[in-house]
Amino acid sequence: MSEPAAFDFQPLDPRIRRDPYAHYARGRREFPLYAQPGPLRLFSLFRYDDCQAVLRDAETWSNVFPSDLRPGGENRPQVLNQEPPPSMLGTDGAEHARLRGLVNKAFTPRIVQRLEPRVKQVADELVRGAVAQGEVDLVQALTYPLPVTIIAEIIGVPAEDRAQFKEWSDEAVSVLGTGFFGALDPETIRRQTALRQAMDAYFVPLAEERRRQPQEDLLTGLVQAEYEGSRLSHGEMLSMLTLLLVAGNETTTTLIGNAVLTLLEHPDQLARLRADTGLLPTAIEETLRFSSPIQFDPRRCTRPLELLGQELQQDDIVLCWLGSANRDEKVFEDPDRFDVGRPKTAHLAFGFGAHYCLGANLARLEAQIALETLLRHTRSIEAAGTEPPPLHPSPVFRSFTSVPVRLAPA
Ligand code: HEM
Repeated sequence: MSEPAAFDFQPLDPRIRRDPYAHYARGRREFPLYAQPGPLRLFSLFRYDDCQAVLRDAETWSNVFPSDLRPGGENRPQVLNQEPPPSMLGTDGAEHARLRGLVNKAFTPRIVQRLEPRVKQVADELVRGAVAQGEVDLVQALTYPLPVTIIAEIIGVPAEDRAQFKEWSDEAVSVLGTGFFGALDPETIRRQTALRQAMDAYFVPLAEERRRQPQEDLLTGLVQAEYEGSRLSHGEMLSMLTLLLVAGNETTTTLIGNAVLTLLEHPDQLARLRADTGLLPTAIEETLRFSSPIQFDPRRCTRPLELLGQELQQDDIVLCWLGSANRDEKVFEDPDRFDVGRPKTAHLAFGFGAHYCLGANLARLEAQIALETLLRHTRSIEAAGTEPPPLHPSPVFRSFTSVPVRLAPA
């Protein structure tokens, strides 16, 4: 009898990134807590219940990842000195609650619902333009410009600058998560520092303007919080703006793109959705589960403990594989089936616990409207191009940087 092949889960391997699901399934079955080979004490966690338990327990599992824990971090003192204050994503406890509390009112279901007419208007303009072209890259034509326009309007930065935001977002997220698997090279560090400086230089005069002339936007709210002194430092305000501008774009772009790609791979489900657009909310939840934009969510262990029979030390890092948890057969019936009418998908695509995605309501609204508008304006949607779509450079994302399609007008 031959030995079963060794489990060699390499998150940066493009073949695994394109089709990780058999690897995830084996991880869930045989290696639920897998020690990643490499320079760090880094573990992959594959099962739904285990990921949820880690994300739920914010005392044991921190979202703060000091740079000197990263590979090569000890060689980065000059970068460390320049490092900006963390955004809410990189804080714990009271500090996290303070930062999140400053902006969460802008993203409640009631407030987000008010944006519906504007989201519909922007989606309509973009889809009309795309359909007029016939064959388009949907990322350029719809999935990127829709979320960036809306978040720019919420923050209060000119949506006309969206080409610039795209450049920044792409640059910011291109290296996301790669530091867990190896040292960042000096050129990457230099580019990331330059990016941060460019974004700061953009936001500072806009913030000045709001200080002189307050408006009804999030930027004004942040400037006022900064002005009051104790609630927000200047650096924190800039980190917040960068996070909001970047976090919401790439992810929602990905969700809409993944919905279209997955529907094209499942023509029966596309036909079903066309016939009954009342299924749009569940179709979006199913896309989030089946093709999760964010594949892993990292946490740092704050104390020694035992997990799944292994001893973990303080500062060990665990990657919660949301993309795997969302295919867990113990939670989802027939998990590898894409079913736009799947009832109740309590997926972890937006994370779980204290850092649960701030923009989940907004992302859902935008994705539903984008798909509805696309279906309404087209008779058919087909994949264009013969090559598989290009993979996003960051291993955190399950995303494709272009989605070429042919659209036939309704
Ligand atoms: C499909 C779209 C989206 C997905 C899949 C997604 C996913 C996630 C996930 C997994 C987290 C948890 C991170 C963690 O646990 O460390 C998160 C947090 C966050 N998301 Fe989203 N997101 C999406 C859209 C958005 C949008 C539109 C915004 C715009 C405001 C946004 C803003 C944030 C922020 C600010 C956080 C940090 C929350 C905190 O630390 O308390 N996201 N997101």
